[in-house]
Amino acid sequence: MDNTNGSLLNFKGYNLLKSFVDIEKLEKMEDFEIRDDDVFIVTYPKSGTIWAQQILSSIYFEGHRNSTENTRTVERAPFFEYNKCKLDYVKMPSPRIFSSHLPYYLVPKGLKSKKAKIVYLYRNPKDVLISFFHFSKFTRIIEATYTIEHYLDNFLDGKVHGSRWFDHIRGWYEHRHDFNIMFLSYEEMKKDLRSSVLKICSFLEKDLSEEDVITVVRQATFQTMKSDPRANYEQIINYKFGVNKKEGTFMRKGTIGDWKLHLTVEQNERFDMIFKKNMKNFPLKFIWDINED
Ligand code: A3P
Repeated sequence: MDNTNGSLLNFKGYNLLKSFVDIEKLEKMEDFEIRDDDVFIVTYPKSGTIWAQQILSSIYFEGHRNSTENTRTVERAPFFEYNKCKLDYVKMPSPRIFSSHLPYYLVPKGLKSKKAKIVYLYRNPKDVLISFFHFSKFTRIIEATYTIEHYLDNFLDGKVHGSRWFDHIRGWYEHRHDFNIMFLSYEEMKKDLRSSVLKICSFLEKDLSEEDVITVVRQATFQTMKSDPRANYEQIINYKFGVNKKEGTFMRKGTIGDWKLHLTVEQNERFDMIFKKNMKNFPLKFIWDINED
């Protein structure tokens, strides 16, 4: 283990948030006992994790869907490797939903029995980069970087939380046959939230009524989540780490193609070159612009 930068801890080749982890638990992660009805939401950071957490929590828990229970989404679908809410994962009743940014090779081995399900949500990496950049300025969780240029270099080199985006998605995709996994894109969800919710329900074998589907979709819109303190991380981040309100909010823009407003032509060309080199023959489709099909 070594430090990649002040806020990161490199564990077996993967960068985690140093202040969030318990080394002893990290060492035992791969042997954590998985139940057949567990569900994992897996994402590279800033790909819409909170969105998937909200959708799955509303699908699984009626009280969450109908707002009759005052449980925060982050406790309904807690982070597996970062147990900041200090929940007892072993005693948690089924069905358990976990969220994780881990690469395929660090998740519990029991996920390979193929019964427990994984929803892998991915987002075009230029928007991930911009979302990440703003997040670094907004919160003290990760080291602040004040220029996109600097952040771009770190992102492309994997010197960020989550390591290299290219390795994360490629690793999970190339090992997809080892897991019971569905891939879904942020952009698909943005363009047609209802169809995406139905796709997720079908994968999870959850047969919701039409009325419940409408409620899940309503609970997962950007505006609803932004205004619901249980659904966005703002209170918890502010309380535990402090935020820089001048730099915006956690639920920042939630759009496709924001990178166009931030990257210079040269930066964009550099990104494209590296993307092309690393994503050769990769079959998943990326949507870079809101007007693209
Ligand atoms: P932006 O910073 O581009 O706005 P994560 O939870 O993985 O950190 O991802 C956060 C990103 O997902 C933020 O992106 C946030 O606004 C976006 N997001 C969260 N909920 C969303 C929703 N309901 N609709 C669209 N985008 C959403």
